[in-house]
Amino acid sequence: MKAAIFREFGPPDVLKYETVPDPVPRSGEVRIKVHAATVNRVLDVALRAGKQGQRGAVLPLIPGVDCAGTIDALGPDVATWRVGERVASAGVMPLDVCSEDGTGYTGPRGMMGIKRPGGFAELVCVPACAVDRLPAGLDFHQAAVVLRHCPTAWNLLVNLAELKRGESVLIMGAGGNLGSIGIQIAKNVIGAKVITTAGSDDRVKTGLALGADHGINYRTHGLTQEILRITGGKGVDVLYDNIANPEVLPKAFKGLGQFGRLVTAGAHGGPVVPIDFFHLYDRRITIKGSPTHDPADHAKCFQAAAEGKIKVQIAHVLPLSKAAEAHRMMEADPGMGKIVLDPTLS
Ligand SMILES: NC(=O)c1ccc[n+]([C@@H]2O[C@H](COP(=O)([O-])OP(=O)(O)OC[C@H]3O[C@@H](n4cnc5c(N)ncnc54)[C@H](OP(=O)(O)O)[C@@H]3O)[C@@H](O)[C@H]2O)c1
Repeated sequence: MKAAIFREFGPPDVLKYETVPDPVPRSGEVRIKVHAATVNRVLDVALRAGKQGQRGAVLPLIPGVDCAGTIDALGPDVATWRVGERVASAGVMPLDVCSEDGTGYTGPRGMMGIKRPGGFAELVCVPACAVDRLPAGLDFHQAAVVLRHCPTAWNLLVNLAELKRGESVLIMGAGGNLGSIGIQIAKNVIGAKVITTAGSDDRVKTGLALGADHGINYRTHGLTQEILRITGGKGVDVLYDNIANPEVLPKAFKGLGQFGRLVTAGAHGGPVVPIDFFHLYDRRITIKGSPTHDPADHAKCFQAAAEGKIKVQIAHVLPLSKAAEAHRMMEADPGMGKIVLDPTLS
């Protein structure tokens, strides 16, 4: 099969497009014919550059922390999956042989594309317990991006913040991955009143186009004042951040109302942010952080996407042979949207 593979950390050129042996599924594993794998700034690009503390990556490595495609072969002892089923897989999973449903497994775990071969390949083997069925109507490119970002956003807004219909939420980073999906979960799934903010008019427009009720460019408008104006002085119930911009987050925090909840899974714009502790205790605010998610939410995310409630932003779909080029594009443009690699285009 063809795969993108690197044998040393370094510039994008270390990522080679090569012919390698087809992987053979072990007991409890399925093999997926990959139609989509997302390119990620941290987990692929920074990792390949050697800027991620290597995260225990095993070289040579086929990167790609997710994939969507069809089941192409079954390992021994796999009974619940069929060849040809449309599926996706991502994230932390067993590294050793395990039972089909993963019960009783106590061995090491790690992410595909870091500690076991990933999705930048025509074929990839994953444990059957780490595979999700795709609903009809959701294409592979969308499915891979949904699986990459939606469960984290879902966990923050639904499980941690417990955002309710009719409550108000401020979504930071309107044009970003978690921001754009967060807007749609809050609006189309939960039914909240959504205010979003970003550092450019274009990104604010993206947020409004995705369904936000109000958009604020924090560079041209007073963020706290605008939040209070829109909410009639009350402030928002939930602040969904994921950026930790030390210039912007303190202003958003002052826009959190009584019993407000701040949730976050990221801090690439910080990480250190000055917070007004008087506002924190005076308004009985809680802060919750988690970079993880509940795998039980995968199916809810796929269903919401299949119903058109969540549309992911894809900037480019490239053949797998362009993997190094995709890394170069991401390094050159910090604002580059999502790139999906499709090995069937190669
Ligand atoms: N599955 C997931 O998506 C997941 C899981 C766990 C953790 N995370 C973490 O969550 C965070 C957000 O991920 P994402 O994919 O949504 O990020 P993203 O799309 O790359 O960026 C989100 C927003 O951050 C702002 N931004 C970008 N670079 C910045 C910088 N250098 N300084 C300040 N602001 C900057 C921009 O908004 P403005 O308009 O404000 O400029 C951008 O739209 C990351 O730290 C990521 O590691 C993500």
